[in-house]
Amino acid sequence: MRIISLAILLVLHLVPASLAEEGHEEEETLIEDYFVCRTCGNDVSVANLLFDKYSPLALSATNHTLTEGRSVLIQEVQNSRGFRYTIFLVKQASCQKITAQRWIAKSSWFPGYAWKFCMCPKCRMVVGFMFEPIETATIERNFPSDAGFYALIHNSIITEGYVNSLLMKEKVLREN
Ligand SMILES: *[C@@H]1O[C@H](CO)[C@@H](O)[C@H](O)[C@H]1NC(C)=O
Repeated sequence: MRIISLAILLVLHLVPASLAEEGHEEEETLIEDYFVCRTCGNDVSVANLLFDKYSPLALSATNHTLTEGRSVLIQEVQNSRGFRYTIFLVKQASCQKITAQRWIAKSSWFPGYAWKFCMCPKCRMVVGFMFEPIETATIERNFPSDAGFYALIHNSIITEGYVNSLLMKEKVLREN
């Protein structure tokens, strides 16, 4: 499951060029950490794909250690209905494919980009938002192109590193 759901992310962004071209050179990409859906535990993205981009509409922006040894830009944004989300950005994520879901150019936190919701492919909870440049945000496009990106909702995602630390704590508590 993990291999299937993340295959696209890895092929597009993490496979070293030499491996893709030659096909026989043994090079491996170390996954720094997994971002999983808080509701069902499905893989959503990996820490290797984090990147920072400031939203001019953010209510706040802070650097945060989301995953071991890496500082991430966490921003608080508000939608037109007054709902606030705390988000961080990744270049790729797995979202449920919903055909004919329109990109919305209005009230985008990133000017020049249209958006739509990213729902967990397994449990369908909203885990974030997809962004695509307005010019290429066509109805046929289900997911962002290389020019687009994903914003994940901090409260909807946990890191595998954190899950493991909880399991470890539980194990220690049980043994004492
Ligand atoms: C976050 O850290 C980067 C790199 O150290 C820095 O350039 C940036 O100004 C920081 N941003 C905030 C909001 O603190």
